[in-house]
Amino acid sequence: MNAPRNWGVRIAGTGSAVPERRMTNADFTAILDTSDEWILQRTGISERRIADPNAESTFNLSRDALQRALDAAGMKGSELDLVIVGTLTSEMPCPSTAVRVAAAVGAVPAGAFDISAACCGFVYAMNVAETMVRSGRAKAVGVIGAETLSRVTDYTDRTCSILFGDGAGAAVLVRDEDPALGCIHQSMQADGSRWESLYLPVLPRDVPESDLQSTVRLGCLRMNGREVFKFAVTKFREVIEESLAATRLSANDLSQVICHQSNIRIIEAARERIGLDPEKVYVNIDRYGNTSAASVGICLDELTRAGKLTPGLPFMMVAFGGGLTWASSVWSTRGA
Ligand code: UT7
Repeated sequence: MNAPRNWGVRIAGTGSAVPERRMTNADFTAILDTSDEWILQRTGISERRIADPNAESTFNLSRDALQRALDAAGMKGSELDLVIVGTLTSEMPCPSTAVRVAAAVGAVPAGAFDISAACCGFVYAMNVAETMVRSGRAKAVGVIGAETLSRVTDYTDRTCSILFGDGAGAAVLVRDEDPALGCIHQSMQADGSRWESLYLPVLPRDVPESDLQSTVRLGCLRMNGREVFKFAVTKFREVIEESLAATRLSANDLSQVICHQSNIRIIEAARERIGLDPEKVYVNIDRYGNTSAASVGICLDELTRAGKLTPGLPFMMVAFGGGLTWASSVWSTRGA
């Protein structure tokens, strides 16, 4: 690795991958006491993608997303010296998803590891990767946010199950001679005293006292929806406002605020309170549901491919999730 120096950082390419199978709100009405109307009004979701357990996994969605990002960048996997996957649904605790993805795209012997920060996984990973490239410790990093939440969803729990979907989003970060390019502000924060709001119990002892009276399915996500909702509405606004203050930007100086796709009502509440134009806050939750660590990465790829990240204007990524965790990342970009 090279001696430290303050490099600029550029997103050379983005990619994403989602499973073939669509699960619509109507599919839920066949298995749960719910309705298309309730789900759409309360969450903004019409359908989500669900992985085929025999053919699709966090690993192969991650691999496909990263390969597409490399193709968009015109790069080979062998040019990467680090691969980071943000996920809470790595197939195995060992090895990490990242090491297998790195091998699959031809990046060996790039360093590789997973980050466990729930829905903040992609934003945390982008912040860590950017810092590595900026410092000169890495030349090119593959960053992925990926989930197969369907594997850890209790489909008898109507509050949780209707929200979640599967997918992966990726970006390839490279060094640039201009140090003004890249992340101009980042934050990564957490409050572990509030973990009981959203957790994934493995053993009976993991179930907190507050949940002992409920039916908890081991190996499945458990969420206090109302608690997380309240936290998210306040936190989204705070994080965006803090990031704007730190960068001395006003909301409408940004080309996009890319929010974790948690619930349309959470995104809209933050957007309205901050006074952001609707076209500056991208929404795809209607098509994919809440894909946790993948959501910001998928949005970033769709916005990039649609040419909606205006060259020369900064953009912001912001997320919150289990932990509880929250994070932001504001990037400056090169003009046309
Ligand atoms: O990615 C980060 C982590 N997660 C989130 O960001 C999720 C945050 N939370 C939420 O998005 C929302 O809290 C939910 C979508 C999970 C729930 O929406 P809500 O408006 O907060 O509903 P609620 O939990 O307050 O429940 C209202 C009613 C209840 O019935 P009663 O007690 O009023 O009779 C629920 O039993 O809605 C009922 N309900 C449903 N009804 C039809 C809950 N889920 C459903 C459902 N279909 N799927």
